[in-house]
Amino acid sequence: MAKNARKKLIAGNWKMNGLAASAPEFVRVVGAYQGLKDSVDVMVFPPFTLLTSFGTASRGVGVLVGGQDCHAKASGAHTGDVSAEMIADAGGQAVIVGHSERRTDHGETDADVRAKAEAARRAGLVAVICVGETKEQRESGEAKAVVSRQLAGSLPDDAAAPHVVVAYEPVWAIGTGLTPTAEEIAEMHGFIRSEIVGRFGADAGAKMRILYGGSVKPDNAKEILATADVDGALVGGASLKADDFLAIARAAG
Ligand code: 13P
Repeated sequence: MAKNARKKLIAGNWKMNGLAASAPEFVRVVGAYQGLKDSVDVMVFPPFTLLTSFGTASRGVGVLVGGQDCHAKASGAHTGDVSAEMIADAGGQAVIVGHSERRTDHGETDADVRAKAEAARRAGLVAVICVGETKEQRESGEAKAVVSRQLAGSLPDDAAAPHVVVAYEPVWAIGTGLTPTAEEIAEMHGFIRSEIVGRFGADAGAKMRILYGGSVKPDNAKEILATADVDGALVGGASLKADDFLAIARAAG
């Protein structure tokens, strides 16, 4: 298929960072997007406390915003949780599910992640479903088996573009400044696409976007984004500064 059939997506995951005083960084991203929108899609996932104001700031511009997690149910007695419907109601268009920090900090299983991805679909949100192996799993040669198991367990049966995006985030590359080599990224992304093709068919596999995440910075973005089967990036730390995030988005264009 033509390489440009999958428009690149640069997504910023702010994690548990950002106060109202951080909004100008986002507003700068929104302001610069006009010149980028033909070549790249951009999403920003702020903490829930900033979702409504970011959604308002980006309305009509094309920068999408979303939540970093959601509950599987639409409403109920689940203190502290936020549903996919609430994210949509607050102006969000997307949600990250199954981030390794959720899997580790909150013991989320593949079945939990799948239920959350199904909730995203129910609420009309794009689900960015994260997978990725730990350092120990990579060193013992299990990386593909782990990712295969996570994909099988976390992707709903109706997963398809554009409402599902897969993010490959090797746990050992998150926040460490370490990244796999371009060859290793190409190998894993090719493997993920073959798994998607195997389960959902060639057409679905050709259309689904697979993001790379883990220590993406302005100085390595171009090489990573030019790697086969890499359809964008899920950016943590470097998404907090508009200059860095925009440099990564420009590297995708
Ligand atoms: P860093 O870009 O800070 O390594 O974080 C990656 C990540 O976890 C994005 O979801």
